[in-house]
Amino acid sequence: MTDPAQAESLLELRDVHASIGVSHILQGVTLDVPAGDVTVIIGRNGVGKTTTLRAVLGLVDRTGAIRYAGERVDGLETSRIARRGIAYVPEDRDVFADLTVAENLALAERKGSAHHYDLVFDLFPELRTRSRQLAGTLSGGQQQMVSLARGLLNDNPLMLIDEPTKGLAPKVVAEVVAVLEQVKGRSTVLMVEQNIAAARRLADHVVIMAEGRVVAQHAPDVLEDDATVRAALGVGISAAGGR
Ligand SMILES: Nc1ncnc2c1ncn2[C@@H]1O[C@H](COP(=O)(O)OP(=O)(O)OP(=O)(O)O)[C@@H](O)[C@H]1O
Ligand SMILES: [Mg+2]
Repeated sequence: MTDPAQAESLLELRDVHASIGVSHILQGVTLDVPAGDVTVIIGRNGVGKTTTLRAVLGLVDRTGAIRYAGERVDGLETSRIARRGIAYVPEDRDVFADLTVAENLALAERKGSAHHYDLVFDLFPELRTRSRQLAGTLSGGQQQMVSLARGLLNDNPLMLIDEPTKGLAPKVVAEVVAVLEQVKGRSTVLMVEQNIAAARRLADHVVIMAEGRVVAQHAPDVLEDDATVRAALGVGISAAGGR
């Protein structure tokens, strides 16, 4: 399924605006996230990709309509939105450096949800062996695994994942992508991913953002089109990790 118009959307944004201080960052984002699929947002630095994810969770002031599972969530507090089953894996991993891996996971446990430790340790065997290690002493890739594991621990029909491969070595990128391929089908995913090879492996739909707006929603084969990728990112496919 690649045409968002024909799929049932788990998440819909309609004309979402967001400001940070005096800056008008999102300038009318309209976006559909089809249920069961992976939707990948790409776009140049500073166009509002992260702010779009944060707007869904109510982490920035915003106007416009945001519907999750058919219901408006744009008037709800962040904690109530998260409790509906939306996980957020932020751009900078955001693990608690002074706490152990096990403590990081325990803090992520949400009341009213099952806690899928078996799933998490199946996907990330290293987290079991390192469960007593301080998260701050883990490698970037391992911290990314903790961050993803925190989202996968609870029943989250929707995961918002921001640049999970950013700053990681190629081998580690491949490991993160392999895990995300297993997440696929378990949760609907809206993610930002600027590494074109990774995006190509994961995307069912591609959303291109520019200057605080969605400029296009495409089938994933757009990631083979160097001119479109160049227009979206400012660099061609090979410079964006694509080949
Ligand atoms: N806390 C903040 N205070 C002020 N300006 C901010 C803040 N957070 C983001 N911005 C600005 O909002 C704009 C959009 O930022 P956002 O982080 O959403 O972009 P992005 O597309 O995720 O970029 P990147 O590719 O660098 O991650 C940028 O111009 C940024 O400088
Ligand atoms: Mg960002």
